[in-house]
Amino acid sequence: AANAIEITLNINSRNYSLGLDPRTTLLDALRNHLGLTGAKKGCDHGQCGACTVLVNGRRINACLSLAAMHEGDTIMTIEGLAAGEKLHPVQAAFVAHDGFQCGYCTPGQICSAVGMLQEAKDGWPSHASQNLNATTIALTDAEIRERMSGNICRCSAYPNIVAAIRDAATEV
Ligand code: FES
Ligand code: FES
Repeated sequence: AANAIEITLNINSRNYSLGLDPRTTLLDALRNHLGLTGAKKGCDHGQCGACTVLVNGRRINACLSLAAMHEGDTIMTIEGLAAGEKLHPVQAAFVAHDGFQCGYCTPGQICSAVGMLQEAKDGWPSHASQNLNATTIALTDAEIRERMSGNICRCSAYPNIVAAIRDAATEV
């Protein structure tokens, strides 16, 4: 576009320079301009969590954020979570616990869980939180559900999603 602006992003440990319409969301930049289609466009309105990615280690809904707001930020998508052939512990736990059915919500669930576990480690409270401290993450199922309430699963795979996250919490 004539009014394109230049944006530099570090995504999955690679630097990208993009010329984008300033109204481009981070989700569209990832999916349409970089071919990173792991983050899904479910609702495009911040209500399903399918588009969740990590920005500077914190989870966000990429559909609600303009790419231009992230100049210089470090972004991790589902495509960048594994270390080579080795799955991230949260990915491995989702496989071990069958934490998905159709899989549409799964990249968002996994990125959200990675961010959520870091929030818990950092002592961010939830309404249901009990004895959180920075060294142990012992999350009750109720607390996992509450902290993951921004991620909708149309297949209702919630019991297995919660089991996977409970398991992964001991490893991250
Ligand atoms: Fe972003 Fe639904 S697509 S929250
Ligand atoms: Fe189908 Fe969650 S596994 S939407």
